[in-house]
Amino acid sequence: MRQIVLVGFLQAQNCTTIPASWRHPEARADSTSPDYYRHIGRVLERGKFDLGFFDDRLAMPDLYTGDHAHTVQHGIRCVKMDPVTVLMVMGTATTHLGLGATYSTTYYEPFHVARVFATVDLMSEGRAAWNVVTSLNDNEARNMGRLVHPAHDERYDLADEFMEIVLGHWSSWDDDAIVLDRARGIFADPAKVRRLDYVGEHYRSRGPFTVPRSKQGQPVVIQAGQSRRGLEFAARWGELIFAGYGTIENGREQYAALKAAAAAHGRDPDQMKITTLAYPVVGRTHEEAVAKKAAYDELPNEIDQLSLLSEALNFDFGSKDMDEPFSDEELAGISGMQAIRDGVLRRSGIKNPTVRDFVRVSGRGRVGDAWVGSATELADQMEAWFTAPATDGFVVGATHIPGAFEDFVDLVVPELQRRGLFREEYTGTTLREHLGLRIPELARRSS
Ligand SMILES: Cc1cc2nc3c(=O)[nH]c(=O)nc-3n(C[C@H](O)[C@H](O)[C@H](O)COP(=O)(O)O)c2cc1C
Repeated sequence: MRQIVLVGFLQAQNCTTIPASWRHPEARADSTSPDYYRHIGRVLERGKFDLGFFDDRLAMPDLYTGDHAHTVQHGIRCVKMDPVTVLMVMGTATTHLGLGATYSTTYYEPFHVARVFATVDLMSEGRAAWNVVTSLNDNEARNMGRLVHPAHDERYDLADEFMEIVLGHWSSWDDDAIVLDRARGIFADPAKVRRLDYVGEHYRSRGPFTVPRSKQGQPVVIQAGQSRRGLEFAARWGELIFAGYGTIENGREQYAALKAAAAAHGRDPDQMKITTLAYPVVGRTHEEAVAKKAAYDELPNEIDQLSLLSEALNFDFGSKDMDEPFSDEELAGISGMQAIRDGVLRRSGIKNPTVRDFVRVSGRGRVGDAWVGSATELADQMEAWFTAPATDGFVVGATHIPGAFEDFVDLVVPELQRRGLFREEYTGTTLREHLGLRIPELARRSS
């Protein structure tokens, strides 16, 4: 029977995606310690989650007013550690939990990314996943030695070549290449290890690759593009998709469209799992959950929102008055997360929204769209999404750490299990086994 996929949405930083989370009275204060991440990993594994996944960004959100003082002062994601290193700490504290992290195609080299994640896959015995992002803004560019971030669609054109190299290298050792015959002195069969010799318009990489295949063949590819070009990229390459569908009606439509787009690429749509973002606030009763959410809503600052909007849209919201509308040119020039711009335009029905409209309608930096209720209510909601079908599962975001995940695991997961919608125990050890994803055929591009 089809089962819900659960992903823990994690950040190797001083807060969750919601900056105010560090001010929550029950939040752990040691987000730069290894024990913090070991603890989250164990909680997610106790809840039989498919994977924990770390997002990434290569700059503080300091585009707003062109200065980092506010970011540091208010703790707006100002600590951002390398996600793969933190991921491995979580990996050593767990045995089954899948391990995902984000690396940028715009600022790293394909050979490097292929090697890092193939190594994580071996060291975690087949639990690795790579979230492919093309990055967002000019401050990431400045940190990585460039002046400006490449244009939106161009980033994806580059990323297509990037994927050909990464997947090519991951396919360049046959599963049985290693012989380890001491008597004959043969370590591996040279006929089963190939060079890639990739020469593209933007990238080249020779090989042979230096990391053999893992128990699950190769890491799972995660993708979360939401723009038209981003969705096209996801349909071609993504095995696990992160989306923010918002409403079940929208989800049903987008889910079907993305599965159809994958099929149009000659892929089996069942081999692409789609998960949508949810921020649960769960209580033992409905009233308790509502009270938790009300207390939480006291925590965010407007500056959190302005800072995160500037970061995501690659536009300094401090350069305009709160009630000044965006011009047509400014709206057209947004090069970051265009899905946020489009969502604000669609949901507000306003052609030229003001800064205040963006803050109000986007809800960025707050938990405006939280799923609030008892375990039964939340399970009802998840079941409705899953059976619609508007999703294959959920990327579970946290209002604070570790309480939000502990509540979800202790209250909601047992209810999903009781309904037969979610596993009681892991039935395999690799991430592909958890997700029901086959080991991909070796790409025979390499020779
Ligand atoms: C659950 C989820 C996680 C994401 N994680 C990241 C991330 O770690 N880094 C990042 O730059 N973008 C992240 N994104 C954003 C998308 O990957 C993508 O960069 C963004 O939507 C912009 O691309 P687009 O213009 O194609 O939509 C995430 C989105 C979702 C829904």
